[in-house]
Amino acid sequence: MSYPVTRTRRLRRTDALRRMVRETRLSVDNLVLPLFVRHGDHVREPIASMPGVCRLSVDALVEECREAAALGIPGVILFGIPERKDPVGSEGYAEDGIIARAIRAVKEAVPDLVVWADVCLCEYTSHGHCGVLKGREVDNDATLPMLAREAVVYAKAGADVIAPSDMMDGRIGAIRRGLDEAGYQNAVIVSYAAKYASAFYGPFRDAAGSAPEFGDRRGYQMDPANGDEALREVALDIDEGADVVMVKPALAYLDVVRRVKEMFRVPVAAYNVSGEYALVRAAAERGWVDGDRIAMEVLTSIRRAGADIILTYFAKDAARRLKG
Ligand code: PBG
Repeated sequence: MSYPVTRTRRLRRTDALRRMVRETRLSVDNLVLPLFVRHGDHVREPIASMPGVCRLSVDALVEECREAAALGIPGVILFGIPERKDPVGSEGYAEDGIIARAIRAVKEAVPDLVVWADVCLCEYTSHGHCGVLKGREVDNDATLPMLAREAVVYAKAGADVIAPSDMMDGRIGAIRRGLDEAGYQNAVIVSYAAKYASAFYGPFRDAAGSAPEFGDRRGYQMDPANGDEALREVALDIDEGADVVMVKPALAYLDVVRRVKEMFRVPVAAYNVSGEYALVRAAAERGWVDGDRIAMEVLTSIRRAGADIILTYFAKDAARRLKG
């Protein structure tokens, strides 16, 4: 039955009607706030390309986590900026490294907050690649034990979630075995399973000083042109023991989010990355778009595509808006 009997506008007429038929709900429960932690005391160092985001010393990080928890945000993901970098990324898996210290402090102050630890070497290596080098290439198999060690150090510090973002083959299995052998059977693994070699990470690399010194990450991160390959990556990671799989970035890859959700029916995370955030903030600063509305629209669209969890620098703003 079509027009004039059918009028799809009927259900859009008032706010109450629209609320009744709304298909997608964005809740604060879906959000994870990414945070950058550095050495020092009482430091809140703004990141130029990410307005509103700072590099925080551990004390300031704890305050930020308290605020996030008070807003109802269930989790944070931590990224470290080490004191010094070396070819093997030692501070990444040092027991007194910046992230291990940060996790201990946050878990002590805000025990119910779910603390995610990003596991990768690129923030800690002098060359900025996500593993150890053999010549000018990243040595996959030599990197695995280091990632497992990093994961165990973070789990021991109290991390609830281990989130490997390096894209080495076999890392989920290596990390799961490492965690289990060390007695951390309950540490959750969120795998950055379909992580693309994306220009949308630009501001993050400024923030973490983790741009590769030579070359790029296309030898290990995925080709933006590929969708079927993402399904293969996800299948392998689930098989190796991932509890949650992530697609990253989010917006240019919503089709991948949808396909992963439909095919695997496991919890899916999507990372609304630094460049996606920066684009919105930059245009909003110029008065070209309404940044608040765009943020909510973007987050809702990521949910609509099928993501259960959204990692986003908008988490605090969105939580405030969702509270009304
Ligand atoms: C580390 C890592 C990166 C991001 C998350 N973990 C950077 C990269 O792979 O270059 C990007 C997050 C963002 O852009 O917001 N490997």
